[in-house]
Amino acid sequence: MGNIALTSTLTLPCGAVLANRLAKAAMTERLADASNRATILHERLYRLWSEGGAGLLLTGNVQVDRKHLEAAGNVAIDGTEDAEALAALRRYAAAATVAGNQVWMQISHAGRQTPKTINPHPKAPSAVKVALPGGQFGEPVALREDEIIPLIGRFAHAARVARDTGFNGVQIHAAHGYLISEFLSPRVNLRRDAWGGSLAGRARFLLETVRQVRAAVGDDFPMSVKMNSADFQRGGFAFEDSTVVAGWLDEAGVDLIEVSGGSYEQPSMMKLEGQEPAYDPTIAESTRAREAYFQKFAPEIRKHLKRAKLMVTGGFRTAAGMASAIALDGVDVVGLGRPLTVDPGAPGKLLRGEAAALDRWEDRLRVGPGWLGPRSPFMLVKAVNGFGAQSWYYEQLLALAERGAANPGLGLLAALLSDQRREAARAKKLVFLF
Ligand SMILES: Cc1cc2nc3c(=O)[nH]c(=O)nc-3n(C[C@H](O)[C@H](O)[C@H](O)COP(=O)(O)O)c2cc1C
Repeated sequence: MGNIALTSTLTLPCGAVLANRLAKAAMTERLADASNRATILHERLYRLWSEGGAGLLLTGNVQVDRKHLEAAGNVAIDGTEDAEALAALRRYAAAATVAGNQVWMQISHAGRQTPKTINPHPKAPSAVKVALPGGQFGEPVALREDEIIPLIGRFAHAARVARDTGFNGVQIHAAHGYLISEFLSPRVNLRRDAWGGSLAGRARFLLETVRQVRAAVGDDFPMSVKMNSADFQRGGFAFEDSTVVAGWLDEAGVDLIEVSGGSYEQPSMMKLEGQEPAYDPTIAESTRAREAYFQKFAPEIRKHLKRAKLMVTGGFRTAAGMASAIALDGVDVVGLGRPLTVDPGAPGKLLRGEAAALDRWEDRLRVGPGWLGPRSPFMLVKAVNGFGAQSWYYEQLLALAERGAANPGLGLLAALLSDQRREAARAKKLVFLF
């Protein structure tokens, strides 16, 4: 027998129905061609995930401006798309829904987190540079006020294209330190005009985007927002802010709010260190471990929602932990990321009761033992572990797309080298395009 908490359907405020409570979280595929169009690799990968059993698939970030990509291999929809780009999106959406599930396109703008190889002077709310060593990011330029409304129009355009090409919904990416998340953060948004300052000012970009996207797609089309529970940085977007913004999004007609956290400077969404313990049903309720990183925020956010449904992503690994989040913390949809880069069929196994837990690759991926691992006292070693793990997941996605099976035996350093080489070659091609 399947797991009842996870197998029940969910009706969204717009009327759409999710077949179950599991969602594949957005994971950037980096599989686009040199013109940032979807490819056959997207089709193959998403067919596997569609057949994998999750009721909802969120695509990796699709960019609304090809000069503000998160990586050279991103799909972009920015008003320059040709007939072939639209046909490729149609094939992508069709493959991603073969099993009758929903696929929603995540739309984004990378803001100051655009790599320097793509744009040395990316637009951001204010000229505040990403504070990371390594020189990967350029010097951001503050958006002029007259550039903001047209930029929001790009999100509406991408959402309309998503609907027209067969995607079942859209998700606005307002988390993880990309442009909209930068607008929300008082550390990064130092604007003194109507788009900064108070929480209402900082949330204006997001709310205006929600309004325009809703107008573009209509009332019966699922619309989601992925937002941070907090940035987990001093002076950043705080949890108290996120509960208020969640309430505003609810009033604005968002169907599903996904809660995550962090940014490149503070990658809490991956919780690279000190993983939460797996859920243990024998532990007393009052001291119960919540295996997902942001699950403890769910009950408070829930209080601010009248219609919208709540999704939490990050760290879910056991069926019991997922069921308890739904039953006890007011979570409606459980988001799953990294385990599905190796086993796209994992959601179905959980739903049918064939598996009780997912693989915790995050506990295994390391350059070596002890000081060579992710908790090394040396910054460089820590960084190699962090970037290497991320590359390892990209290599798994590529293997799934190219060969239909992952390659979990791949070493961390081999993954890092292969991924970096491919991304560098792609970025060079992009430079020629400008
Ligand atoms: C390879 C990879 C790519 C990701 N790309 C995106 C993305 O495009 N958009 C996004 O919102 N989150 C992205 N994430 C974050 C995931 O959606 C998710 O929040 C995170 O992996 C935590 O969930 P997990 O513990 O189940 O992996 C990515 C994560 C990974 C591992």
